[in-house]
Amino acid sequence: MSVNELKKLIKASNYMVAFTGAGISAESGIPTYRGDDGVWHKYDPEKYANISYFLRDPSYYWNFFKDVRYPVLKKAKPNKAHIILAELEKKGILKCVITQNIDGLHQLAGSKRVFELHGNTRTIYCMNCQKKYSLDEVYEKIAKNEIPPKCTCGGVLRPDVVFFGEQLPVDVLEQAREESLKADLFVVIGSSLVVQPAASLPLIAKQNGAKLVIINKDPTPLDSRADLVFHEKASKVLSEVESV
Ligand code: OAD
Repeated sequence: MSVNELKKLIKASNYMVAFTGAGISAESGIPTYRGDDGVWHKYDPEKYANISYFLRDPSYYWNFFKDVRYPVLKKAKPNKAHIILAELEKKGILKCVITQNIDGLHQLAGSKRVFELHGNTRTIYCMNCQKKYSLDEVYEKIAKNEIPPKCTCGGVLRPDVVFFGEQLPVDVLEQAREESLKADLFVVIGSSLVVQPAASLPLIAKQNGAKLVIINKDPTPLDSRADLVFHEKASKVLSEVESV
């Protein structure tokens, strides 16, 4: 597919919306869930990403946090793709980013209008009194072998993410739907488009008249519905449209 066609679509658009998934953060060193380098080959999502399991045994999640999530997040920096999206927003071309990611890298890159459908793992709160904690505060507790980490009130801490078995935040999902309906250009970047209800947003946009572009290393179930498809790395394609 030609990058020139994508450039033309971007130039012609009045309301461009980006929809991102784990693939955009892969080049920041954060493993994806699915695909060749998917973390799910090594860890059991039924345990670390499932609310029933978390409530039964929160230590499984917090050990995963200690061994994997925290070290990866501490190292991760926004990559070229995150940065180009932030620049497109600053230029007034991109209106918002709807993301399934919980890593906060869009905000670190400078994006302002970010709708986080699955929460943000950098925020941690007490299930009893809702007091908030930072990643480092919690890691300190864990490093002292306080697993699961607890609040000063004695409540167990949890990440502010959507676990399997939980609803997406209603207000964020509603705003994301509204943005998808406003879009005349909807660009998916780095998502396998298999997890609902997030994966329904590209179709909502397309059915409402938006042009749909998919930039993802592997094929997705919506490729046949898209106006342009790139099976390439996010940073490569976005670098080529950086100067629109
Ligand atoms: P997935 O891991 O399902 O898909 C990531 C996609 O990114 C794969 O299809 C890869 O081909 C692609 N990819 C990898 N590296 C890439 C790169 N450099 N450039 C472009 N594409 C690349 O991630 P999501 O679709 O985000 O939910 O997963 C959706 C949800 O599944 C997650 O938010 C998470 C998980 O369950 C919750 O935790 C609630």
